[in-house]
Amino acid sequence: MLIAITRNVSDRIAYCELTHLKRRPIDVSVARTQHRSYEQCLIELGCKVQTLPTEPDLPDSVFVEDTAVVLDELAIILRSGVESRRAETDSIARALSSYRQLFHITDPGTVDGGDVLRVDRTVYVGMSGRSNKAGAEQMRQFLKPYGYDVRNAPVKGCLHLKSAVTQIAEQTLLINRNWVDSENFPANKFIDIDPSEPYAANALWVNGTVIYPSLFPRTQRILEETGIKLRIVDVSELAKAEGALTCCSLIFER
Ligand code: GLY
Repeated sequence: MLIAITRNVSDRIAYCELTHLKRRPIDVSVARTQHRSYEQCLIELGCKVQTLPTEPDLPDSVFVEDTAVVLDELAIILRSGVESRRAETDSIARALSSYRQLFHITDPGTVDGGDVLRVDRTVYVGMSGRSNKAGAEQMRQFLKPYGYDVRNAPVKGCLHLKSAVTQIAEQTLLINRNWVDSENFPANKFIDIDPSEPYAANALWVNGTVIYPSLFPRTQRILEETGIKLRIVDVSELAKAEGALTCCSLIFER
């Protein structure tokens, strides 16, 4: 059974962190409706969704992926690269402590979960504006006893590693090569996004289906032509907060 931890959208999402996007008005009610559809999609794909209470004072708190990395053997509570997001971890640590032994990234390390891509026993950590070498090194020490290989992957031009590359099938990555070098992922096959849709590489692979945003029809067509099974969701309002599909859940085996 897969558990998907999510969190309701904060009333203050309009005050979210923005790095590469211009601030635009966000309709909280539309964002909440889209978020509920996303949760419904996870349920239909076989996840048990555990929705945490809203954190009214933490604008980015819907993006739970950034707070932790959950693997079969342990969970790592992360330390965000931005101060405004660090308080998001308290409630996540409480929720995850029922499922896993917890480890914590500490100062001077920073890692956002959006920078962590696991492919089998390899864990790639994006070297972005949010995650640093000290954070990746702490992850390496936590994961070494369990046989994971932790590799640093430089990214440029985007917020997180998973803005640039995500896994969409066995050993198959959807990638924007302008933001990350494919040579970082030697054992994998690649599907390139349509170049007119730079944000199109973030997809969520769940139980053999890829949840994919309606925002990128050209890349959607490429995926369909490749035979990838898709579920399309509209997360356009959440995207204005510089949050992508994977950001909205923490998914792991019970
Ligand atoms: N607004 C998402 C982030 O910057 O972390």
